[in-house]
Amino acid sequence: MQKNTFYSKVIAGTMTWGSWGKGFSKSSMIQLMNHCLEIGVTTFDHADIYGGYTTEEDFGNAYLDSGISRETVQFISKCGIQMDADARKNHVKHYNYNADYIIWSAEQSLKKLKTDYLDLLLLHRPSPLMNPDDIAEAITKLKKQGKIRSFGVSNFSPSQIALVETVMPVEANQIEFSLTHNDVMYDATLDDCFVNKRMAMSYSPLGSYFRTDDEISQRIRKVVKPMQEKYEATEDQLLLAWVMKHPSKIFPVVGTATKSRLSAAIEATKINIQKTDWFILLEAAKGHEVA
Ligand SMILES: NC(=O)c1ccc[n+]([C@@H]2O[C@H](COP(=O)([O-])OP(=O)(O)OC[C@H]3O[C@@H](n4cnc5c(N)ncnc54)[C@H](OP(=O)(O)O)[C@@H]3O)[C@@H](O)[C@H]2O)c1
Repeated sequence: MQKNTFYSKVIAGTMTWGSWGKGFSKSSMIQLMNHCLEIGVTTFDHADIYGGYTTEEDFGNAYLDSGISRETVQFISKCGIQMDADARKNHVKHYNYNADYIIWSAEQSLKKLKTDYLDLLLLHRPSPLMNPDDIAEAITKLKKQGKIRSFGVSNFSPSQIALVETVMPVEANQIEFSLTHNDVMYDATLDDCFVNKRMAMSYSPLGSYFRTDDEISQRIRKVVKPMQEKYEATEDQLLLAWVMKHPSKIFPVVGTATKSRLSAAIEATKINIQKTDWFILLEAAKGHEVA
């Protein structure tokens, strides 16, 4: 199993780098990749579906021209979701975890990302029809061929991981976790990562704070403002520091494609929120006492 220290503590999510968001040109992508490397963000999170199956290729073309050496970066990608897109016709959105499909999808990711291997391949979401034997067959073959270095899942519950682990070790789980979306602290998902030394990554680590002006965000805003002065930090930094204080040693997968915000995210790794402040934030998110 690969050591978690191999990945950068802050992982750059690429979901909005392409047509699902910023629509960056090749040169803008190269600039952003170089900025990431300069500040110490070396791990990039992908999925086959981003941009309707187009963003891996946009990123890969930029990566090829960037001259960045493969040893200095880590690529994560995901497979399994079959959605309807211009690049791929599906009459119903569904999952596919057949062995041949997993292998084909991983090979497509390699081709698009212009690389020989993925550092980590994740099954994107659990499927009611997934068969651990099929998964093990594909992952064993991909590992043996050197096409993937490690294997994990995303959005899996501990029992779904246990199902896969009847045949195959699961090295990582990427889940939604933030101050506003914190169920995984209570439903055993993060306990499972801690107990089994599974790498825990949180996607959407800022939750709904910047997306909606609902009561939850308003309550958090009230208590976060005075903390900004105390910690000399911005709101996004405090939200990330809150996530990283969890004992399961979470790697936040940040979605920002703004250079200054990526730099702020790296700086947030230095903030140690005091326990009482951590609970003040949780209480604000929940809207009631939490102890
Ligand atoms: N495994 C899965 O099922 C799954 C699902 C969803 C996402 N993901 C991964 O997780 C990554 C992150 O997801 P996310 O985009 O939801 O994460 P996020 O980091 O919680 O949100 C980032 C978004 O917030 C915006 N934002 C607004 N104000 C901000 C501020 N002050 N600081 C920072 N960001 C601010 C950013 O805009 P700007 O870009 O304009 O800065 C960006 O659009 C994705 O890229 C993807 O790699 C995985």
